[in-house]
Amino acid sequence: MAPISAPRILATSTFSRLFLLLSLSILMHCNSSQATQPPQTTDMVLYFQDFAAGPNATLIPVAGIAGKLWTFSQFGTVFVTDDFITETPDPNSPMVGRGQGMYVTSALDGSSTHAMFSIVFTNQAYNGSTLEIQGTAKQFEAVREYSVVGGTGKFRFARGYTTFETISVDMPQAHSIIQCNVTIRLG
Ligand SMILES: *[C@@H]1O[C@H](CO)[C@@H](O)[C@H](O)[C@H]1NC(C)=O
Ligand SMILES: *[C@@H]1O[C@H](CO)[C@@H](O)[C@H](O)[C@H]1NC(C)=O
Ligand SMILES: *[C@@H]1O[C@H](CO)[C@@H](O)[C@H](O)[C@H]1NC(C)=O
Repeated sequence: MAPISAPRILATSTFSRLFLLLSLSILMHCNSSQATQPPQTTDMVLYFQDFAAGPNATLIPVAGIAGKLWTFSQFGTVFVTDDFITETPDPNSPMVGRGQGMYVTSALDGSSTHAMFSIVFTNQAYNGSTLEIQGTAKQFEAVREYSVVGGTGKFRFARGYTTFETISVDMPQAHSIIQCNVTIRLG
């Protein structure tokens, strides 16, 4: 038994030494390429034009718990959204795209919402490309942060984060203007 198992142990330790060397060289390679090329980040500031009521609503509750009011603060309420996105806070400024997807009130106490939507670009620079936004945030706080979990077209392999801050509310029109800051890396 002994003469057979001894070479096997040797073989294993040679292999693990080789593996260690290999992983060290990969690690060093990664470090050196990182040192010469820091990851590029891209920043954007966009403005969501959100209408929560009226004939041209862009945010509508479509499902919820039976017997409860389908409101932002009621757990289980599902909203679909198709906000238009502009270059400046002015709703008449050039269109950049649309924010299409949904929100679900995801905390039992109603404090958080889970967002899952795409920023679908229609402007010249990024026409047809999308960014995928997902995450949970305290919906009544001034700044809400969500992840950028991916993208398509010019934003393939995108990841990063977004902040959403409501900068104006027109109650009679149920119109909110939300500043959305995007920070992403590609690859
Ligand atoms: C809704 O949209 C239609 C078509 O764009 C427009 O004519 C109408 O004035 C809008 N209504 C409101 C209340 O904004
Ligand atoms: C975006 O693409 C669509 C179809 O691919 C085209 O009809 C539209 O004119 C384009 N918009 C811009 C701003 O280039
Ligand atoms: C978003 O970007 C604008 C413009 O750079 C800046 O003034 C604002 O403070 C940023 N918002 C957040 C929440 O970081």
